[in-house]
Amino acid sequence: MKKIFAANWKLYKGPKETRDFFKEWNKVFSGNKSEVVFFPSAISLEAAALSIQQSNSKYELSFGVQNAYSLGQGAFTGENSAAVVKELGGKYVLVGHSERRQIFLENNQIVADKVAFSQATGLVPMLCVGETLEERDAKRTREVLRTQLVQGLQKADKTKTLVIAYEPVWAIGTGRVATPEQVRQTHQDVYDILTELGFAAPILYGGSVKPDNSSGLIAIDHVDGFLVGGASLDPASFKSICESHLK
Ligand code: PGA
Repeated sequence: MKKIFAANWKLYKGPKETRDFFKEWNKVFSGNKSEVVFFPSAISLEAAALSIQQSNSKYELSFGVQNAYSLGQGAFTGENSAAVVKELGGKYVLVGHSERRQIFLENNQIVADKVAFSQATGLVPMLCVGETLEERDAKRTREVLRTQLVQGLQKADKTKTLVIAYEPVWAIGTGRVATPEQVRQTHQDVYDILTELGFAAPILYGGSVKPDNSSGLIAIDHVDGFLVGGASLDPASFKSICESHLK
């Protein structure tokens, strides 16, 4: 299975910084057989779309939105439309990131509607799941992930493409990466739950992925790529992560 390396830029990089990133990126990354996906902030989407279109690289480069509402248009002030992302040439919608769940109070029902609408619009949902430290310490990780997957995928179309990102909440932006054994066990659990539910999807790991830990993590079974925050903001550092499976 080809690897997927995704950059989650959160609320960083306006249009100018986005264009500057791609100028540098085109110099440093000559490509490989993996897919590289960018999630810029919504206001920088068009700049990313144009930069990607103009890049003459032969490798698979795509982009998506960090959040899209469960309807394509209407009176929903401040929301993003998956239909507009599609129009711009986008491929993915990040759904249920832990910052959306925790700060913007998105529950599994909201997540399920967004997964279903993204698919109906012709985009690929990248569904994020992950446990808090409290849940891990209480040995509830598998149960929490199962609930997030069962409920988050309840309206999903099994015949359409889907990507899962496992991101332990305690590892996001903290510099505290999960151990290889934790990643191995949890990715196996996510794989088993997806199989039981009738879904086949690549499973990415996310949470403090850096150039110096990425080669060890990518070698683990059922780790099909990464979702990277902080370390994707710099072209050289993200390039190194996108080549972790080749080292
Ligand atoms: P991080 O973020 O790599 O900065 O931990 C990952 C994410 O939030 O997707």
